[in-house]
Amino acid sequence: MQRKDDKAYGVSPTYFLILLFLPNLEYFYKTFLILQITLSQVATLEMRRKIRKTGIDINSEGKRTKEALEESERYRILIENTSDIVYSLDSEGNFTYIGPQVKQYGFEPEEVISQNFLNFVHPKDREGMHLQFQKTITSGSEFISRFRIRNKKGRMYWIEELGKVQHDKSGGVIGINGVLRDITERRRVDEKLQRVNKELEKRVQERTAEISKANEALQVEITERKHAEDALKESYEKLRSALEGTIHALASTVEKRDPYTAGHQQRVTTLACAIATEMGLPEEKVDGIRMIGVIHDLGKIYVPAEILSKPGQLNEVEFKMIRSHAKVGYDILKKVEFPWPIAQVIVQHHERIDGSGYPSGLSGENILLEAKIIGVADVFEAISSHRPYRPALGIDKAIEEISQKKGTLYDPEVVDACLRLFTVKGFTIEC
Ligand SMILES: [Fe+2]
Repeated sequence: MQRKDDKAYGVSPTYFLILLFLPNLEYFYKTFLILQITLSQVATLEMRRKIRKTGIDINSEGKRTKEALEESERYRILIENTSDIVYSLDSEGNFTYIGPQVKQYGFEPEEVISQNFLNFVHPKDREGMHLQFQKTITSGSEFISRFRIRNKKGRMYWIEELGKVQHDKSGGVIGINGVLRDITERRRVDEKLQRVNKELEKRVQERTAEISKANEALQVEITERKHAEDALKESYEKLRSALEGTIHALASTVEKRDPYTAGHQQRVTTLACAIATEMGLPEEKVDGIRMIGVIHDLGKIYVPAEILSKPGQLNEVEFKMIRSHAKVGYDILKKVEFPWPIAQVIVQHHERIDGSGYPSGLSGENILLEAKIIGVADVFEAISSHRPYRPALGIDKAIEEISQKKGTLYDPEVVDACLRLFTVKGFTIEC
């Protein structure tokens, strides 16, 4: 069946069957009965539906209300147990809600509600916070701000605020909800850290300045020392040049008195320097040997020229005079300060490592290396060259002499270096 309001209602088929099987009843009665039955059925159905619907509505509403209450309670517990303060402002900046934590600043929530938030902001931050509020309300965005407040007794605290603009369903601004957090202690620690940092930075700058100053002074000192060293080096070079000139003058004097040994000292020098270099001696030692070599027979200026150039056999006195040249050379130069041990090498150049040499019969390590080198070069040159009393014996004879007496008269390392020069490296000596 269907009502005028187009709502359909069901009628049980049992009632229609009764009607069909009662043909003797009057038409009106039938119509009434049908109407009664129908109305009754409709009323019953409607009532049942209403009851059922009401029952459902009551149950659903109750459940939703219960859930909402539970949720609200959960939020309340959360809000009241956090250390931050939850708040709500209306669009004018007046508190519509403030969490109970506001009590820690001496205010009851009730006395804060309805007051404008700027009343609690420190006067120095008030203008800035007012502008911030206006801007937030206009732009409708989230914001974070830091500002100072004063508690009821006027003490100052630093607050960090995180807020968000709230809108109604039509998009209009209702106000701001947010959270306030006390950052006073954090600010105090930050400020202390900043002070410590500044102090450290200041000390680093001071220390850097000191180091820079010391560095500059050091640079000046290094420059001055370099100049002094250069001056000393120049002075040394001049002195060395003067000494070399003196030594060469002495060498010329000896050689002019003794034409038969002319060039002997120079050739000994050349060979001795080659041996020293072959042995790997430092340049300074090689330079010393070069200076000593050219005057190693300086003492011969005290030996009469006739004896020096005597072609025949020398008698014992003459031989003794010639042998005195080592000591005489030493006596001439012993008080002159050279950068090399010239006098000592001169007096030792006829000493032999087995102690058979003259004038002191020194042996082994008591003989200076320079003297051992000049000694070997002197013998080698004397044998291989022409002498007043005999013709040149040649290099082979000289090699034979130093090879045979290696380790007895002559230092083995010096001999080996000399032999390498002539037998391996093709060194030649002008005879
Ligand atoms: Fe000599």
